[in-house]
Amino acid sequence: VKGKEYRAEWECPSNIALIKYWGKKPAQLPLNASLSFSLKKAKTKTRVSITPASRRKVSFMFEGQASAFTERIENYLANMSLEHDWLNDFSFKIESWNTFPHSAGIASSASAFGALALCLVDLKQQVNNRQFTQEQFFQKASRWARLGSGSACRSVFPAFAVWGHLNQIPGSTDCHAIPVKGRFHPDYYSLRDAVLLVDSNKKQVSSSQGHELMNTHTFKDARLAQVNSHLFELLTVMEKGEHARFFELLEKEALSLHALMMTSDPSFILLHPNSLNIIQRIRDFRKQSGLHFGFTIDAGPNIHLIYFEKDKEVIHQFVEHELLSFTEQGQWLDDGIGNGPIQL
Ligand code: PMV
Repeated sequence: VKGKEYRAEWECPSNIALIKYWGKKPAQLPLNASLSFSLKKAKTKTRVSITPASRRKVSFMFEGQASAFTERIENYLANMSLEHDWLNDFSFKIESWNTFPHSAGIASSASAFGALALCLVDLKQQVNNRQFTQEQFFQKASRWARLGSGSACRSVFPAFAVWGHLNQIPGSTDCHAIPVKGRFHPDYYSLRDAVLLVDSNKKQVSSSQGHELMNTHTFKDARLAQVNSHLFELLTVMEKGEHARFFELLEKEALSLHALMMTSDPSFILLHPNSLNIIQRIRDFRKQSGLHFGFTIDAGPNIHLIYFEKDKEVIHQFVEHELLSFTEQGQWLDDGIGNGPIQL
């Protein structure tokens, strides 16, 4: 008799960290707490169908084609199944699409594991014939996403999310991210992110290797003290709407992340000369225009120009006239703060 098939389909955004997660403890727990916002356009759509099987088989197709990501997904499911036995009773057919060009050097593991984890929690509900509350559902999805890629746990919530225990933030935990609701000055809910694509070549050092190097980093303790004070101050700054300080802290975080890479042992550099050219132009134009905007950077060479919706026209002109010549073939993505995942 053919077994029952269950299906789930979710779309999950990527996120951009304002306060960076860099360094981890065993079980993919973070060395420090981080804060991010979910994007609107950069998303992964994932469909999972499962059928009963005596031995798990996994088929993964990315945009209709076999993908090198398959092995990572297989390992992830094998790992998860140690704690969640029902995952051993099915075969998995997983199909995924990104709304942004995957070769552009934009991290997609956050949206990919966010979408996959949401599908898995959805399937768990169906298989066990039991509904979680909204809060339970997204907490579980966040925890399961974390086990795929740390930063993915922040992607399953709308707008701002904090991941990592911090005394000052009630409910915060290392196990999953929590949404930060209605706490900030209204301007921050109109933040936008112009992602300037500087170099799409594969990174020489992966973020897992980078996290690993933090364990023995000379500046580990100093970084922990710094990042906790950055996060604590940023929360107050965002409550009060102190925009100039907001962008100062944002840039300090991005540059600290890259300084940590440069001073790791062995050292590595992910920034490209054009990343620095863009940073310089951003700082010059900020002085000249008097507007509030700034940059952040993930573990890669691309620059995220963060600004407020009300300045969109001026910033777009600035991007087009002054920054695109430093990007790879004029590529950039015009994104902004988003409303979180959706069930399809
Ligand atoms: O989720 P991972 O292991 O790829 O780590 C990514 C870490 C940064 O993107 C550099 C910072 C962050 O908090 O997202």
